[in-house]
Parts: sequence; structure tokens; C-alpha cells
Amino acid sequence: MVMGIGVGGLGLPTRITSTNHVIFYLREERMEWGMKNRLAQLVKSDGHCLFLPIDHGYFQGPTRKLEKPGETIRPLLRYCDALFVTRGVLRASIDPENTKPIILRVSGGTSMVGKDLSDEGITTSMEEAIRLNAAAVGISVFVGSEHEKESLLNLSKLVDEGEKYGIPVMAVTAVGKELEKRDARYLSLSSRIAAELGARIVKTYWCENFDKVVNGCPVPVVMAGGPKVDTDLEVFEFVHDGMEKGAIGVNLGRNIWQNDFPVPMIKALRAVIHEKATVKEANEIFEQEKIKKSKVSSE
Ligand code: 5RP
Repeated sequence: MVMGIGVGGLGLPTRITSTNHVIFYLREERMEWGMKNRLAQLVKSDGHCLFLPIDHGYFQGPTRKLEKPGETIRPLLRYCDALFVTRGVLRASIDPENTKPIILRVSGGTSMVGKDLSDEGITTSMEEAIRLNAAAVGISVFVGSEHEKESLLNLSKLVDEGEKYGIPVMAVTAVGKELEKRDARYLSLSSRIAAELGARIVKTYWCENFDKVVNGCPVPVVMAGGPKVDTDLEVFEFVHDGMEKGAIGVNLGRNIWQNDFPVPMIKALRAVIHEKATVKEANEIFEQEKIKKSKVSSE
């Protein structure tokens, strides 16, 4: 629950949550200009963000509705605050003259059909991230897996490199194929460890008792959705709940671009994240936008 609004280093409003008592550190005075500037590109002046991940192909191949990432994101781009993407898809499918801040996915080296999803390495150098003008880099950590240690040390090394150049690292608390791991106990453990190792932002899954995750994590938390949920209302409910409990936003993919109405969905979510819309209001926006969309397509 939001307790108050403070004023950050750039004179911008910052969010203070009752859960982790973090004076939203993204605009902290002591932070260097480059780091501060990159974080300000990603997180809007209200302290919230809507990241659109399209990185799933790096281990899943051509994921449903993401077969042609450039086409998938074309209508969605204007409504997101940043894209989470690998360098391959970035170069091949994203217009460098018309895009949003880029969070570059820099871990990988495994696949759905391989032995172990947790056996990731760093796939992309910091020089490449700088060349691609990334606003941040993202890496998965696999706490509790066979490769826990390697993935955590990869994160630490990436943070060392990123801090040298003022590039924030977003840590992704990955669960591999073990989706049942997504509970508050596990996610709070993983998120805290990722923050301790220096991640500037932690991306984790929404779960029941999500306040436990945010409470235990001293850096801002964004929520992923995982596989598409059964109803549209559920998406609004979990995003709204997570925001109430202190998340700063989402890094939400399949529940947006696998929806039959991705633009109405992202617009409704934007209202929850940036305009404090309730679940009911978000659903109304979604339904109205769906009607508009069907009118336009039948004309
Ligand atoms: C995939 C990722 C995704 O960025 C993350 O899981 C968010 O996407 P979704 O909401 O579809 O789960 O890290 O490797």
C-alpha cells in the first residue's frame, strides 16, 4: 500500500511504500548521471513502469504470437515504457529510429529441449550493450537449481561491469520449467538474493502474499506474468494487487501479446500502472477499447 509521495533527486515524485520503506532510490542524489539517466528512461516520473518483454525466443524458439516479433510489437510499442529483448531480435526486428528504451537480455545458452534451463551463461558483452545503446541489461538467476551458484556469480559479474559504465542490471528470478515454485517463500528468497548481489531492479512473478516479496527486497520490483492466465480479469486483478503491494510496474509479455486483443489489454494495464485504475475501471477500458477495435476493423 502506498503511504506517501516523497521528492527524489531530480525533483520528481518518488514512491514510498509501507512494505519495504524504500525511499524510491532510483533518483537518489549520489547516483551517477548515466545510471540515473538510464533508470529515468525506464521508470517514468510517477515511479512506475510498463516493460514489454519479447525475449522468450532465446530459449523457447518461436513462441506463439511472437513468431514475428516486429509485427507483434508494432501496435503495442507506443503504450510500453521499454522493451526487453535479445540483441538478435533487436537488430532484426526493431526500428532503431522509432523505438523505446531497450533492456537487453544478456543471459542464455540453453533451450526448452536441452538438459537444464538453469545452465545459463552471459551471452552478450557490456561493450555490445553500450554499442546497442541499451538502457539496461537483464539476466536470469536460478536460485535453488543445480546451477544456482554460476547464475548468481554471472549476475555479480554483470553488475560489476554494468556499474563501471552506468548501466543498470535487471535480475530475473527464473523458475525454468518448475512453475509451481512461484510462491512468496521462494520468490522473496530469490528476489532478495538478486538485490543483495547488486541488481538495480528485480523482475519476479506475481504471487499470493506478494507483499512478502516486496517487503524483503530493498530494490524496486517488477512483475512478470508467466504463461497466459485463463481470464482477462485475472490479469487486471494480479497487476492491481501487485501494484498495491509495492511493485513499481510490470515486465509482462504473454498476457499482453497472446491476448486476442493486445492493444486494449496493454491500454487497460497502462491505466492500472500509471493512472491508478481499479480492476473494474481497467476492465471497462478493456471492453471499450475492444468495441472501438472491432468497429475500426469492420469499417
Ligand atoms: C522470459 C522472461 C520474460 O521476460 C518474462 O517471463 C516475462 O514474460 P511473461 O509475462 O510472458 O512471463 O524472462 O525468459
